[in-house]
Amino acid sequence: MADSKPTVLVTRRLPDAVHARLERDYDARLNPEDRLYDKDALIAAAQGADAILPCHTEHFTEDVFAGLPDSVKIIANFSVGYDHVDVKAAAKHGVVVTNTPEVLSDATAETTILLMLGAARRASEGERLVRSGGWKDWSPAFMVGVAVTGKRLGILGMGRVGQAVADLARAFRMEIHYHNRSRLSPDKEKGAVFHETLEDMLPHCDFLSLHCNVTEETRGIMDAKRFALLPDGAVLANAARGAVIDDDALIDALKSGKLFAAGIDAYNNEPNVDPRIAALDNTFLLPHIGSANRETRDAMGFRALDNLDAFFAGREPGDRVA
Ligand code: DGY
Repeated sequence: MADSKPTVLVTRRLPDAVHARLERDYDARLNPEDRLYDKDALIAAAQGADAILPCHTEHFTEDVFAGLPDSVKIIANFSVGYDHVDVKAAAKHGVVVTNTPEVLSDATAETTILLMLGAARRASEGERLVRSGGWKDWSPAFMVGVAVTGKRLGILGMGRVGQAVADLARAFRMEIHYHNRSRLSPDKEKGAVFHETLEDMLPHCDFLSLHCNVTEETRGIMDAKRFALLPDGAVLANAARGAVIDDDALIDALKSGKLFAAGIDAYNNEPNVDPRIAALDNTFLLPHIGSANRETRDAMGFRALDNLDAFFAGREPGDRVA
């Protein structure tokens, strides 16, 4: 590392071990109080910084890039998703962008299984009943959900997270179907059924799990037309991004019974979840904690730092996305 340490603006509170490495290797502007920066505060805090290490809670629009000082040369995200960064604007302003793939695949896959189980077995409803003191009786007809074991699981987006979900789902003897931009090699596919189109896959999905990035093609991809292609009583899991779902269509599907239930960890307009979704009993809702375990948070921070280290050592960062 050079004598004068690069200045890094860290927008959110990160794990202690990540702070320690930041303070050792950089002139780190930390945010131990974990205040949320709005656009103006972000631009003000970035004055004189060489790099920003943000989370998906900060949005880097063209406006923000236009306001950032020229000294900022890299945005090293603490996230695998980077839909909060306008990558075209980044390129225009000569700013490198990186993410943190791989290290959170297992954590997100665990959360996805939790969403599937929680939705299928009515976990939110049951928990509310117990906590409220409203549980008065038991009968064979009480709180009956649907089985996960042995069902067909459709995975939209068979990247690292999708493949990790498939591996866990095989322990439930699920039959794996997937749609992806390209077919996987047999060693990665492990017998899963590839569908050339999403429309072809949907009728085979007792469970549907979304793992695609947000792009112009995938924004709102689960719309009314596509929900209608699912078998009646399907279960949806979304641990990717809310933007891949059309909320009106989701709510209609949950109300009509097209969907038995949905397990959701990522929403449109977070953290302001559409109150119509929160009001439905057949939703199992988590607050975007897909990768939130200690080990994974450390690994995400270290991965972001590996990207910064490479950049400031004059090498290409391993996880460059723009
Ligand atoms: C990710 O890494 O994309 C998670 O959603 C947290 O931002």
